[in-house]
Amino acid sequence: MQTPDKQDLIARDALHVWHPYTQHGTESDPVAIVRASGASLFDADGHEMLDLISSWWTCIHGHAHPAINKALCDQANQLEHVMFAGFTHQGAVDLAQQVTKVLGAGLSRVFYSDNGSTANEVALKMAYQYCRNKGDDKRTIFLSFKGDYHGDTMGAMAVSRGSGFFKLFEGLMCEARTIPFAATFSGDRQREEKENKAITAFAQILDQCGDQTAALILEPLMQGAAGMQFCTPDFLRRVVEMAQARGIIVILDEVATGFGRTGSFFAFQQSGIRPDIVCLSKGLTAGYMALSMTVVREDFFQEFAGDTFNKALAHGHSFTGNPLACAVALKSLALFEEENTFARIAMIEQRHKQLLPTLQEHPLIEKPRVLGTVLAFDLREGAAGYKSNESIFLRDWYLQQGLNIRPYGKTVYLMPPYCISKEQIDTAYDGMLNGLSQLRK
Ligand SMILES: Cc1ncc(COP(=O)(O)O)c(C=O)c1O
Repeated sequence: MQTPDKQDLIARDALHVWHPYTQHGTESDPVAIVRASGASLFDADGHEMLDLISSWWTCIHGHAHPAINKALCDQANQLEHVMFAGFTHQGAVDLAQQVTKVLGAGLSRVFYSDNGSTANEVALKMAYQYCRNKGDDKRTIFLSFKGDYHGDTMGAMAVSRGSGFFKLFEGLMCEARTIPFAATFSGDRQREEKENKAITAFAQILDQCGDQTAALILEPLMQGAAGMQFCTPDFLRRVVEMAQARGIIVILDEVATGFGRTGSFFAFQQSGIRPDIVCLSKGLTAGYMALSMTVVREDFFQEFAGDTFNKALAHGHSFTGNPLACAVALKSLALFEEENTFARIAMIEQRHKQLLPTLQEHPLIEKPRVLGTVLAFDLREGAAGYKSNESIFLRDWYLQQGLNIRPYGKTVYLMPPYCISKEQIDTAYDGMLNGLSQLRK
């Protein structure tokens, strides 16, 4: 394929394209990427950069994987799309069957949509309607952890209000309240105290509104957009069990944590809990296609069955269950066995843990933490906030060094594709720490 003229591309982009989470008045030009392979992206000047955040946490096996490419081409030659109301196809059925097998916990029924936000939006609608289908009209409230981010659609924004991103849209949101999150890190001496405090506060919230709460939606073990904040499996378990004891539906948003990211296939599996609904996207298609799942138990699904349409879920999208996306997701799932992906994940985690003592001693760093393939720490000084000066400075400096690392406010993190090599990880660590010394200049 011919490489596009970079200047021309950037000029036309500036004229016609509106980028996500971007202030076009101040941001520098976007980087024109022309191809990708494994852990690397290549720009229009031929520069290689390591994609150390897996392109917004999606491409778990790396870019342009030959086996996924082939699955996609084969599927395109067979069936590219068919509407999903009144029709079905093999990819959607196989994928639902295989993902629910890995999920376990009685989660057996899949509703497809297109991205993480819609997976959560669907889950919120399902939970709300489930209460009504059962004749319980008083449950109108949603709860979520303070700092949680569940996406950008209306319902998802309401349960992400504790993220601080959506203050402008408060007037449009449904009723949702936040509960405390007990963030922890390596060597945290106050962990137990923080967890007990958060649990006490949650118990009070449940006393106030437990009977009017339809659902609790949580990011399990790791809050991504809050700056890779981790909690313990035990804290998660306590929160979930307290909610379920009050008849509250528990939705786990595994959009970022699913498919091996936290060391297990799904984060909730480290807690031994049984969520009512699990939402998946991002790693589901290894970053190839827009696809998501909202997965529920059979007894939950059966509450929507009946003689009239009133009880059915009135939700669907043009591209629901797209065959190309399903084919890619099936191949991505198969790769876990074919490439022994969990050995790769263990290697990344082990290396991250080996770096911890260096991070703990570093004068500019606090709260270093590792969860599966995710390494994160906070800068001791500097502003919080999504686009703080430090985060923009570091992001641009890292890019110049050939590293796609995008700090969030005070948090610097790595979330590499699982195909990354030991040498590439070492390059990432060196560059990441070098960037911090630039901050002092
Ligand atoms: C935990 C979580 N939930 C939901 C979303 C929204 O997903 P999407 O961007 O695919 O709509 C994200 C995106 O980063 C996420 O991290």
